[in-house]
Amino acid sequence: MNDTPASLRPVIRPRRLRRTAALRDAIAEAHVRPASLVLPLFVTLGEGREDPVASLPGVSRRTVDLVLPLAERALRAGVRSLMLFGVVDDDGKDADGRLAADPDGPVPRALRALRGAFGDDLVLMSDVCLCGYTDHGHCGVLARGAPHAAELEIDNDRSLGRLSAMALAHAEAGVDLVSPSDMMDGRVAAIRAALDGAGAHGVGILSYAVKYASAFYGPFRDAAGSTPGGDVPRAGEGPRPPATRATYQMDARNAREALREAALDEAEGADMLMIKPALAYLDVLARVRAATMLPLVAYQVSGEYAMLKAAARAGVLDEARAVSETLTAIRRAGADLIVTYAALDAAERGWLG
Ligand code: PBG
Repeated sequence: MNDTPASLRPVIRPRRLRRTAALRDAIAEAHVRPASLVLPLFVTLGEGREDPVASLPGVSRRTVDLVLPLAERALRAGVRSLMLFGVVDDDGKDADGRLAADPDGPVPRALRALRGAFGDDLVLMSDVCLCGYTDHGHCGVLARGAPHAAELEIDNDRSLGRLSAMALAHAEAGVDLVSPSDMMDGRVAAIRAALDGAGAHGVGILSYAVKYASAFYGPFRDAAGSTPGGDVPRAGEGPRPPATRATYQMDARNAREALREAALDEAEGADMLMIKPALAYLDVLARVRAATMLPLVAYQVSGEYAMLKAAARAGVLDEARAVSETLTAIRRAGADLIVTYAALDAAERGWLG
């Protein structure tokens, strides 16, 4: 018995196209392929060591020899892109992050090994930033500001030289795309000039153009030992390193500013742009998508992944469906590629969309 008067029965019914799984599949707008995923890897010096990151279930810091089997596993699952992060011991760190540009540092070693083992089957990307190599944990080098300032400042222009040297070391080791994540002004132009000056015209720049100062980086900083400020031992009084990255990473309240950052990096010669974090900034991703023709990359960052894992472990959501849904949402909002700690699980277990 139907109580609805005929005049109120809809003629147009979107539900028609949701009736069967085959129909739903046929009209799906956004898809995630294994090749759309980028697997982040933390690389250390030494041999035969794998050291799990407590705050990131399933993620480890690995020596180069143990990175190779993981890369092979990724390739077998169809994940062809890796993003490398170097992790060094505290005693290798200094105020200028010199080890960042060492050709024998963890990332150049891993790049050479991966390129040697897999040739061009892999897309190799490398994070270019000083925070994992500086004793104060900041993404640039420090300078004294005003005479009586309580805090040191991040020296933008002196950082550019350090970042360019780091990018060059990665280029010489075989990287496809260097990924500056430091948020210094002008770094894309500086790195492009350094690469071109060395004849590395084919090495691209995937710029973290739109990177917010975010609470969601917490677990990464555990993994990389890169929490800013820290308790750097200093003789006597004197200005201290700032405790936040707010003077260089973006303010969560701003979206127009994201368009400005994206336009600047594009004009400076970036080949791809990153938006980061992903889930809390899908509006920003969609707006940047409408404003540029460059490929876009979104980073589902450590805190986003940790949140999904914690909820799944607590039994309050279905991990497979939640991972698939978030990755699909990021693609729908306009990302070509997604950097995610769930890349292997998603590709191997079909948590795609
Ligand atoms: C380095 C860098 C960070 C991340 C990527 N590159 C940390 C930060 O800026 O503090 C975060 C990635 C993640 O949280 O997964 N600057």
